[in-house]
Amino acid sequence: MSNKGYFDRFGGRYVAEVLRRPLEELELAFIDSLSDVSFCQDLDTLRRDFIGRPTPLLHAVNASRLNGGSQIYIKMEGLAHTGAHKINNALGQALLAKKMGKKRIIAETGAGQHGLATASACARVGLECVVYMGEVDVRRQQPNVASMELYGATVVPVTAGSRTLKDAINEAMRDWAASFESTHYLIGSALGPSPFPDIVRYFQSVIGEETRAQITERALDVEALVACVGGGSNAIGFFSPFTALSAPRLVGAEAGGIGPGAGENAVRMSGEASSDGIIHGYKSRFLTTADGQVAETRSISAGLDYPGIGPELAALGESGRIEFVSVSDSQALEALKFFARSEGVLFALESAHAGAAALALARSGSPDRAVIVNMSGRGDKDIFITSPVFRPGPWKDFLAQELARLDSGQDIHVFGGNS
Ligand SMILES: Cc1ncc(COP(=O)(O)O)c(C=O)c1O
Repeated sequence: MSNKGYFDRFGGRYVAEVLRRPLEELELAFIDSLSDVSFCQDLDTLRRDFIGRPTPLLHAVNASRLNGGSQIYIKMEGLAHTGAHKINNALGQALLAKKMGKKRIIAETGAGQHGLATASACARVGLECVVYMGEVDVRRQQPNVASMELYGATVVPVTAGSRTLKDAINEAMRDWAASFESTHYLIGSALGPSPFPDIVRYFQSVIGEETRAQITERALDVEALVACVGGGSNAIGFFSPFTALSAPRLVGAEAGGIGPGAGENAVRMSGEASSDGIIHGYKSRFLTTADGQVAETRSISAGLDYPGIGPELAALGESGRIEFVSVSDSQALEALKFFARSEGVLFALESAHAGAAALALARSGSPDRAVIVNMSGRGDKDIFITSPVFRPGPWKDFLAQELARLDSGQDIHVFGGNS
């Protein structure tokens, strides 16, 4: 738990006066929910029956043999309902919002996984759902947009700024400032003003708690846990039961993008480019320009291009408990292909960054030790990004044929109009 909202010098609640009361109410409701037996029972039941927990820990025997060195294990979060870890937090916060008497949920999303998870959780719990999503992300994550709409959510494309996650957060915060009496802002990563980083870590720590039990069950000697780091929710959830211990090593993989230059990556902790800043209501390490504006970032994965990092991860990085490494777009793609071919497991592009870091770590490790990578999501959603890379010709032909088919009106079945 944070110390009054702070993790060393990071965190806090830097918001306009109007948001102080809803944040205080949220904090009280969250603390109350921790000892609310019926809330905890509902959460446990839905974790089991709706999300499909516990997720398995797979011994990647083929990948380990081909890679050499330590045994690689994959925490299969991608098998969770809606395809990623995001549902752990979305479900928890949706139940919390319901308990608080809220009627409407707003959320921001980057890769669309958090939007998808929130839309699904809202449908299940019975809450209206509006998802803000940068226009660039709407384009590159169309399958998730389509599914969000099927779950009944309204997706609002954000056209401001770089039209990615940070702009979607700005819009969601603006909405919340005007709507908090009826609306809960269901933030999707372990960031934002206190108490959000504590809430998100709490709901995501189910990943780490399960992993700890699976390690004990199999008597694994673990060298390292590896997770990708966007805002940081899967990483802090995976790492949290271990942060107070001196082992295993905890390794966060950041988006190295296409190179080390400004605007070419989203490396906040493993490079020299970030500085302390206060953005989106909290203090942390951010990539900023010389005049203090939020810098442009780049990553092949829509979920890892956020210019900041959750405050707890920033503090644990500075203290040395978490090590951060940078993984480039091409290294992530290579790892994605390697795990798909060797294990039959398709990593999300975000998670493939962790996969690449885990392979590198395992290569220099001992065969009787384990490296566990959190596959935060599965890669189905990325087909529009991976297909043009791995099979550009057939993919282009397919899209051209689909467009022609849609234009000609053939084979289109309309069920009850356009709604
Ligand atoms: C599959 C997947 N992994 C990781 C992330 C990064 O988010 P976080 O750092 O909060 O886990 C995302 C974000 O959308 C995602 O979809």
